[in-house]
Amino acid sequence: EKGRYDHFMRKEISEQPTSLAQTIEGRIVEESGGEGSARRVCLDEFPPGAFADVSEIQFVACGTSYHAALYGQAMLARRGIGSQTFRAGEYAMLPAPVDEDTLVIGVTQSGETADTLESLRRASEGGAQTLALTNVVGSTAARECDDAMFIRAGPEIGVAATKTFSSQVASLALLAERLCEDRTGESSPYQGELLSGLSALPGLVECVLDDGRANDVIDRYRGMDSYFFIGRGIAHPVALEGALKFKEITYEHAEGFAAGGLKHGPLALVTPRTPVFAVFTGRYTDKMLSNVEEVQARGAPVIGIVSEDNSRVIETVDDAITIPDCHPDIAGLLANVQLQLVAYHVADYLDRPIDKPRNLAKSVTVE
Ligand code: M6R
Repeated sequence: EKGRYDHFMRKEISEQPTSLAQTIEGRIVEESGGEGSARRVCLDEFPPGAFADVSEIQFVACGTSYHAALYGQAMLARRGIGSQTFRAGEYAMLPAPVDEDTLVIGVTQSGETADTLESLRRASEGGAQTLALTNVVGSTAARECDDAMFIRAGPEIGVAATKTFSSQVASLALLAERLCEDRTGESSPYQGELLSGLSALPGLVECVLDDGRANDVIDRYRGMDSYFFIGRGIAHPVALEGALKFKEITYEHAEGFAAGGLKHGPLALVTPRTPVFAVFTGRYTDKMLSNVEEVQARGAPVIGIVSEDNSRVIETVDDAITIPDCHPDIAGLLANVQLQLVAYHVADYLDRPIDKPRNLAKSVTVE
């Protein structure tokens, strides 16, 4: 039931404080020791040392789940763990080499996406250990993989994935810590900060939902030619996801780019009629600011998605949609909620069939 909301998508965006709380429930435990209390990751679904022998990690996924996987890859990289992320449609065609020390993680909300299932099967045939990161208990991916981790977002009805993206990323943050512990024998230097950030996340998302900036700002950018989304590092998948959500429900042209790639081609498209959403939640403020100047010099208005404390960025961009200050691995999720709201408000204004965009299905069961 949609309750007081006009669309399931809007309801599901608003449910994120609850769905995120479900995702992390019982998976972050507080332990008191000699020097006070400390938080620790507790993933009961995996026996101790389950990933100790993993020497290579590959992610396979489609669409929004692919963006969540890229976010997971960035979090692993911060912990010194290399991994590769593949679009499942491509992996299924040309599977990467695997052996028994390879962990292949299928990120799939439904657990039924044909390309992702095919990739996981091929990986399994090659001898890899497979893990389904999914929302649906009993789904094909959960049944067929060696292991499963459930994101516990609750049912998602809108075709546009919203709350499942944030729960996938929160789950991957926990899994990244666990992979790090199993492989190195100790927790990452970020674990304490990350886990307090994750524990605060539901409340921070609540603050973003209470803020009407996304709706106010986009009023000024209606009827433009194209909408671009840029980010660097961990903010890159957030930019890609912002663009995907925008195009799928508004039917307006939108593209996401790695900010550093602009001058290698996409800059040719930038004009005063192509607003650029710049996601400032990575650690690269200076480099992002120089990309912002590149597009402003071509007349494009820039809307920064940025921490409310970052006055340097707020003063440089044409409009700012702010988020509460928080751990950098978490900030991308708050930026993503603002971009979900941007897409939603534009689509609502244009009177699009938000919950069932044309030509799309919730679960893509053909290759
Ligand atoms: O169920 P899955 O996560 O495997 O679905 C993959 C994509 O089809 C899906 O994420 C799609 O891109 C979103 N519904 C778009 O909002």
